Amino acid sequence: MKVLLAAAEIFPLVKTGGLADVVGALPEALVVAGAEVRLVLPGFPTIVAGLEDASVVCELGAVFGAGRVTLRLGRLAHNGVAAYVVDAPYLYRRVGNPYQANDGSEWPDNLQRFALLGWVAAHLAAGELDPLWIPDILHAHDWHAAMACAYVACHPGMGVATVFTIHNLAYQGLFSLDDFHLLGLPSRFMVSHGLEFHGQLSFMKAGLKFADRITTVSPNYAREIATEEFGCGLDGVIRARGVQVSGILNGVDGAVWNPATDVHLGSHFSAQSLDGKAVCKAALQKELGLRVDASAPLFALVSRLTSQKGLDLVLQALPDAINGAAEGGIQLAVQGNGDPELESAFLAAASAHPGRVAVCMRYDEPLAHRMIAGADAMLVPSRFEPCGLTQLYALRYGTVPLVRRVGGLADTVVDATPDAIAADLATGFMFGPATSRALGQAMQQATQAYRNPMLWRQLALRGMAQNFSWEAAANQYLALYTTTVQSKAAQRLPSST
Ligand code: ADP
Ligand code: GLC
Repeated sequence: MKVLLAAAEIFPLVKTGGLADVVGALPEALVVAGAEVRLVLPGFPTIVAGLEDASVVCELGAVFGAGRVTLRLGRLAHNGVAAYVVDAPYLYRRVGNPYQANDGSEWPDNLQRFALLGWVAAHLAAGELDPLWIPDILHAHDWHAAMACAYVACHPGMGVATVFTIHNLAYQGLFSLDDFHLLGLPSRFMVSHGLEFHGQLSFMKAGLKFADRITTVSPNYAREIATEEFGCGLDGVIRARGVQVSGILNGVDGAVWNPATDVHLGSHFSAQSLDGKAVCKAALQKELGLRVDASAPLFALVSRLTSQKGLDLVLQALPDAINGAAEGGIQLAVQGNGDPELESAFLAAASAHPGRVAVCMRYDEPLAHRMIAGADAMLVPSRFEPCGLTQLYALRYGTVPLVRRVGGLADTVVDATPDAIAADLATGFMFGPATSRALGQAMQQATQAYRNPMLWRQLALRGMAQNFSWEAAANQYLALYTTTVQSKAAQRLPSST
């Protein structure tokens, strides 16, 4: 099975969130599962720099507003996976993140930038750009790569089967319908059965309407997005795809996230010996200016600061949790960046509670590891969460997750109910309504459990014993690729009647 993965982010070269972690880990897992995998990535400066042994596949000339576009093939220096890089300096080589300038504004030419990615992926899949390697499956991730599915669909002759994975339905890649002509698609794609979405152009819809199969990153989110509450206006489109939509849970990259070997930690630990975790906690408290106190329950949050993540609930629940005299009060460490209002609210909370609340408003990968290792509990109070990775990392590090019962969080954490504790199944704490009251109660419950060291240890060890592996996910993707290729081939057979 030859698989071409198309995406805009890849850890460790370009990362704004969990998409990068997935694209960083999935290719190798697919290779182990028996697939032949290549990636197609936009030529952001760090991606171009991370490509080794590169050779030019072809010169594409001037397309999508770029003066010159060169398609290179090489190996990613960090994992040896083969990757095509779309080197279009005019579109991709700039300072900022993949989607936005440093001032937070969307790049004005995102339509051209990500249409080009999808267009190259589709033409690679058609065998037009590299006739030496033609994939059986084109697997596009999120709206950034979704146009590949429309470009494949617009040529009836293209045999490649397509899978589209939704990592987050809330980010849809919406553009002005006036720019439709820039895409080079026939006008029949400009309708509501195509890319049109409430008077705009939706790249997300290219994946939802035209991929042969759709996946998302947890079974529960796959069910949720078929409802009005979580469907972001696209639930009807998703329901119409019926059983062609499924959920495959993300895994954890054990080479990056392992408390016994993590290069970012001063001290290591494992389920067999947790001593190093206490050392990590003290080091984190010291680093962040929290009171160094082994007995204070330290809650951590590592997150993009957006409304998705339910962080306003944390701000509201905080005063009670800090002053909860009966439980001795908690400590809170927050790492995140994004929404300026949330940033200033957390900074204000830190100055109101010195030694008890610490905030780090920056993107910093090594610090994220120290936070997840050093904390006792990990907060993930999201309003919606397609999968969520920080609770999975927390489980591996014996850091007990406290999550909202939603999306992938509900699939991956077992709430510490009396029954679950008695059966030794519990791995964390959950709350239902998206209210600060419900979150506060769960924090109180967690704090009480923390005061019972036997129980806390039981929860931590049960969490560490979970196995959210990429191996399992890769096998599911491979099985899906196989059935998708088969049914596509069957569709192409001439009808016998
Ligand atoms: P999302 O993709 O919605 O942001 P996930 O939980 O799937 O949520 O993935 C978030 C990823 O980004 C995790 O790897 C987490 O450790 C990382 N992360 C989030 N914020 C930061 C930050 N400020 N610094 C470093 N890593 C961060
Ligand atoms: C998205 C989602 C997150 C998921 C990640 C990786 O960014 O918000 O829940 O874990 O993609 O699939």
